[in-house]
Amino acid sequence: MEVATRMSRLGTESAFEVLAKAKELERNGVDIVHLEIGEPDFDTPRHIRDTAINAINDGETHYTPSAGIFEVRSRIAKYISETRGLDVSPDNIVITSGAKPIIFHTMLALVNPGDEVLYPNPGFPIYESMINFVGGKPVPIKLDVKKDFKIDIKEIQNSISDKTKLLVINSPNNPCGSVLYKEDLENLSKLVLDNDLIVLSDEVYNRFLYQGEHVSIATFPNMMERTIILDGMSKTYAMTGWRLGFAVVPDLFLEGFVRLNTNNISCAASFSQLSIIGAFDGPDQETNKMIEEFRQRKELIVSGLNSIKGINCPDPQGAFYVFPSIRDTGMKSSDFVDQLLPRGVACLDGESFGFFGEGCVRFSFANTKQNIEKAIKRIRDFIG
Ligand SMILES: Cc1ncc(COP(=O)(O)O)c(C=O)c1O
Repeated sequence: MEVATRMSRLGTESAFEVLAKAKELERNGVDIVHLEIGEPDFDTPRHIRDTAINAINDGETHYTPSAGIFEVRSRIAKYISETRGLDVSPDNIVITSGAKPIIFHTMLALVNPGDEVLYPNPGFPIYESMINFVGGKPVPIKLDVKKDFKIDIKEIQNSISDKTKLLVINSPNNPCGSVLYKEDLENLSKLVLDNDLIVLSDEVYNRFLYQGEHVSIATFPNMMERTIILDGMSKTYAMTGWRLGFAVVPDLFLEGFVRLNTNNISCAASFSQLSIIGAFDGPDQETNKMIEEFRQRKELIVSGLNSIKGINCPDPQGAFYVFPSIRDTGMKSSDFVDQLLPRGVACLDGESFGFFGEGCVRFSFANTKQNIEKAIKRIRDFIG
């Protein structure tokens, strides 16, 4: 008995592994500050929960069309217009169980064995995992701490070959916190059009911006028809457990995308889908409050880490992670992470976000200011 060979190409997300190790230490009495996991430490706002509870009580507990409930897709289309200024038809919206399947579906629907896919490295580990899984060739877009994780358009241009099919971008970026601004996106869109590429634009952190406004690459001329926009409820509304993502999918890929939903999940949970209407129609102040709190935590963690010898922490412009270089401590990032955990701080090895992440570690600041201060003290004691 053997598993399929393709399983050896499937990667993972180390956040879940570190969380399991941290929990074991906690069971043995070690106090841990959790800075490993990427989810807002806030409750889903009351009015959103109420929408779902009412939906269950009203009997909304059945299968829905695979792409999602039409009224919900219509409200998402309006949200896309409100947040990106794009005119989108509800027919081009596909609701998924969390935003992650959008990455999987894109790779399955578009990438043939041998096709090359450009993706950010360091980046969300699922991109590289999925490219490998479907037999594509991952071609990293290097994000360098020394350049504040900014993209180098010339380098990207040089990485394009006649086999390049897809470009994955993620702004604001997990783990780097860097943002692609208008000029970067304009330059990227020219490359995409010149080379006949398709884009997966992961915009799941679009509301978590500490300067400037979110711009989608799909807003540039002729980009809409070749861009899949990924967004979802997990981060913006503290709804990670509700498993709700949504994609804007161009006509050409739409049928395949919906069919992947049919084959895989049938549909996202019906009452969960309906909560989207409650979220988008309801007051926005809780999301704004949460983002303001993240801004304060960001200042605290960036200044705290930069006050420790050997750590160099760039100021993130978005998302809720810092990705400092720990190279000057003389430690490898995996050793740093492993040794810091039993001293009471859980964080992630930069290399788990790709080869170019070595020398950095990721701290999520989805934790209270008090706990962030506790963590900084522990890191300072650890470095000595
Ligand atoms: C960059 C990025 N894209 C997508 C996702 C997936 O989000 P979801 O929890 O909705 O599947 C995450 C979650 O951590 C993420 O960081």
